[in-house]
Amino acid sequence: MKNRDIQAAWKYHDGTKHSYWSIRNNPHFLDWANRPLPFKIYPKIEPFPLPRDVPQTGVAALSAISEPVLSSPADSVPDLQDLARILYFSAGITKQRTSPGGEIYFRAAACTGALYEIELYVVTGDLAGLDAGVYHFNPADVSLQLLRRGNFRGNMAQATAMEPAVAHAPTTIICTGTYWRNAWKYQARTYRHFGWDSGTLLANVLAVSAASGLPAEIVLGFVDAEVNCLLDLDTRREVSLCLVPIGRTSESSLPAPKDAPALGLETIPLSQREVEYPDMLEMHDASSLESEEEVAQWRGKQAVFLPSAPAGEEVQLQRLPEGEQPKDTIEPVILRRGSTRAFDKTASIALDQLSSIFDCATRGLPADFLEPFGAQLNDLYLIVHSVQGLKPGAYSFRRERNTLELLKEGKFRAEAYHLGLEQALPADACVDIFFLADLKRILERCGNRGYRVVQLEAGAIGGRMYLAAYAQRLGATGLTFFDDDVVNFFSPHAKGKSAIFLLAIGKPLKRQPQ
Ligand SMILES: Cc1cc2nc3c(=O)[nH]c(=O)nc-3n(C[C@H](O)[C@H](O)[C@H](O)COP(=O)(O)O)c2cc1C
Repeated sequence: MKNRDIQAAWKYHDGTKHSYWSIRNNPHFLDWANRPLPFKIYPKIEPFPLPRDVPQTGVAALSAISEPVLSSPADSVPDLQDLARILYFSAGITKQRTSPGGEIYFRAAACTGALYEIELYVVTGDLAGLDAGVYHFNPADVSLQLLRRGNFRGNMAQATAMEPAVAHAPTTIICTGTYWRNAWKYQARTYRHFGWDSGTLLANVLAVSAASGLPAEIVLGFVDAEVNCLLDLDTRREVSLCLVPIGRTSESSLPAPKDAPALGLETIPLSQREVEYPDMLEMHDASSLESEEEVAQWRGKQAVFLPSAPAGEEVQLQRLPEGEQPKDTIEPVILRRGSTRAFDKTASIALDQLSSIFDCATRGLPADFLEPFGAQLNDLYLIVHSVQGLKPGAYSFRRERNTLELLKEGKFRAEAYHLGLEQALPADACVDIFFLADLKRILERCGNRGYRVVQLEAGAIGGRMYLAAYAQRLGATGLTFFDDDVVNFFSPHAKGKSAIFLLAIGKPLKRQPQ
């Protein structure tokens, strides 16, 4: 089993670390003439337009993010409008801007470099308004392309070794990653971005599903080759990353898995030339699950972590009282979300605003790689610059106690500038949240697949934080970082961990649209 040879994940992780010198010695430049197309287009398939005038859910964003719909024996089957709402508010175009390099179509969820390498597919039984089939979602014209006609739910159940949420789901959304679309700028680090960018998108999928009254769960345990074949992917270019079963049906019989022969469907080339980064193909191959038995075994290895005793001064986090929570509903919050381009460094945020963000984001993801709503693989560390009620300094979040433990007091704006790849954003924000993980333990337990999991979990928690910040009219942005310098900054507490993700939160210099 390749997944157990965890040297592969270490090789990839260590080989793609950013450092002061790696950035300066990299001769890479952006070849604008060869910039990849941001959409996957099947020129010979007639698009099936999705409805655009879908009724809004009316559910407050903070509730939608933090209160998923639990699966119950009762049926909850999405209709075409639900599906259109989930797809649009997760991957749809929400803004457009002209830049020197051409038009940029910004999407509902944040994505490194606005390169949008995550594609969505849908495998569904018959829904009200949509025939059973395997479809691709094209955000460019908000349409579905039918790739295979018929009910392939049995194939999904088989590929996941009968994962209950998938086996009972009327519809499953699949996220894939297209290497070149992101590697054009980020080269081999793109494989980390697959986790981050599918994660932010998944935060929206989960929130909009919950607001639509539909259970949804993130599933990473599946036989890669079976799902890739069903979607007819050219796996040197594009690979399946995760599945999200949506809704629940109590019907007891699943259709038998069907043959899924190669389709060889034509798609428009992304660029004149593509560069392949073998390190990423190796990382993906080494983290692939090869049989249903392996999937079932892997799922049994859910992450369980024992908290350590706090050593420093602790501050209790307290969510805004119910009556004072912003009531903005999820759809307008997603529409106004964007990554803050400049923070007001004279501003501060309230402790209960920060508490609400942590509360929404860290209650636990519905996911097959975690105990139900239990563990979290990423540990959160903070550099607090200006949060009312908190001394400036470095903190560790203690999830089981909902407290922040002070690691060291001090004004660390200059350090944050450096750690966040010498950018002003982390220095000018009110707080920077660093995600670190005990990769050694995770890989030992979950194999190389654990690497996919930890990156994706960080993206999903980060995506929830983005939404929770914008729901409170704050700003946020994902950031990249100097890996080892981050771990050193938070050591000795963080000794032996690895840097996974970074998000800055503060008040934008420019006011958000109403
Ligand atoms: C994980 C992650 C890392 C990011 N890193 C940076 C960064 O280092 N610097 C930066 O200016 N923006 C960064 N961004 C912001 C993206 O550039 C932004 O999401 C993208 O341009 C899309 O714009 P939007 O978020 O406003 O929709 C990051 C976003 C994500 C999700």
